[in-house]
Amino acid sequence: MSCKLIVANWKMNVSLKEARELAREIDAASQNLSVEVVICPPFTHLGLVAKQLTCVHLGAQDLFWENTGPYTGEISPLTLKELGCEYVVVGHSERRIHLQETDLMIQRKIKAALANALRPILCVGEKKEERDAGKTLKVVKGQLTHALEETGDPKGLIVSYEPVWAIGTNRPVSWEALVEATRFIRDFMEERFNPKTARKIQILYGGSVSPENVLNFLQKGGADGVLLGGASLDVAGFMNIVQQSQNIQS
Ligand code: PGA
Repeated sequence: MSCKLIVANWKMNVSLKEARELAREIDAASQNLSVEVVICPPFTHLGLVAKQLTCVHLGAQDLFWENTGPYTGEISPLTLKELGCEYVVVGHSERRIHLQETDLMIQRKIKAALANALRPILCVGEKKEERDAGKTLKVVKGQLTHALEETGDPKGLIVSYEPVWAIGTNRPVSWEALVEATRFIRDFMEERFNPKTARKIQILYGGSVSPENVLNFLQKGGADGVLLGGASLDVAGFMNIVQQSQNIQS
């Protein structure tokens, strides 16, 4: 049994000033809750946000796969650790789409995160046309297979199922479709890794989660937590989601 994991992915949506305020308010409201709350600000905001946090955990939105070297503009896993990150989002569809991030890059990033004791939140999910063509599980299987090909024992791995068409659209997946996806991911992990490790892998859902619909995913959909984009930018709405997630055990 573990408590739910609520991840705030602020993407590129906050100024430094807004990030400091948001982080401070979320941390103050999260004291003594039986939920694991993680904030993922932009890289440039990590140091400032870290200073505001006492009980909320820090994550990054990406990382590079080498620890040091001539990689202009990239961010080392070692630096993320120094800044206090415990989590890192890997393979978000916005990076796959806008930055042409490939399965091989994602595979290297997962390996680097695990090697540096950062908990990777591996994002997988199909596009609209893939769902319409009945290819959802095939796509997810392909993404998982590539991303985890080089991974030994994935201690700390988290998988977030995030259909591309559900992100930022106000059209989340149905809980029935989420049950299918989470079962499929769980079975994949149990086949691929030793059952003890596989059972500990948390499976999240991301895509238009709101205070109104969050329980569909956590109670009916079988998710161990949620990853929030838009809903993580409003303290009242975000804390409402966190409150509702309390006391639901995975
Ligand atoms: P959203 O983003 O909550 O704004 O839909 C979710 C995500 O990026 O996974």
